Amino acid sequence: MISDVLVDEINEQIKFEMYSAYMYLAMSAWCAERNLSGFAHWMTMQAQEEVDHAMRFFNFLLERGGRVELQAIDAPPVDYGSPVAVMEKSLEHEKFVSSRIHHLYKLAVEEGDYPAQVMLQWFVSEQVEEEASIDEIVERMKMFGSDGAALLMVDTQLAARTPGAEEQA
Ligand SMILES: [Fe+2]
Ligand SMILES: [Fe+2]
Repeated sequence: MISDVLVDEINEQIKFEMYSAYMYLAMSAWCAERNLSGFAHWMTMQAQEEVDHAMRFFNFLLERGGRVELQAIDAPPVDYGSPVAVMEKSLEHEKFVSSRIHHLYKLAVEEGDYPAQVMLQWFVSEQVEEEASIDEIVERMKMFGSDGAALLMVDTQLAARTPGAEEQA
């Protein structure tokens, strides 16, 4: 039986994953308005992945007989300043999500909840990948500075993002 504390924390996590989707959509709109269509595309795909993350937690709660209690999602910022600031904000947010996943994992260990630990292991690895891929984009953008041609090159690279195996399933 899943513990009440884990049920509450997973419900909280569904909210954070949905907020992530919301934030990436806001970022996608910000980029699209500035004709950075590659960035916008990348952010939209990121948003879809976040909904998938929320669904993993949602389905896990249902499978384990935990009560799903959906919470209100905060509104994300509208303005992001610059393309590099958008990516820096993404990275900062993913670091926060990683800390949330680690908190959940710690709880699952304390509660002796093995199924929750197995489910969360996927998220531990996923967060390592998310942070690494966003960090690479941030570093590349900083390396190029404010060169417009370089920005367009990154935009072209981001336009090429295809759905991960998870989304194709
Ligand atoms: Fe996520
Ligand atoms: Fe994420």
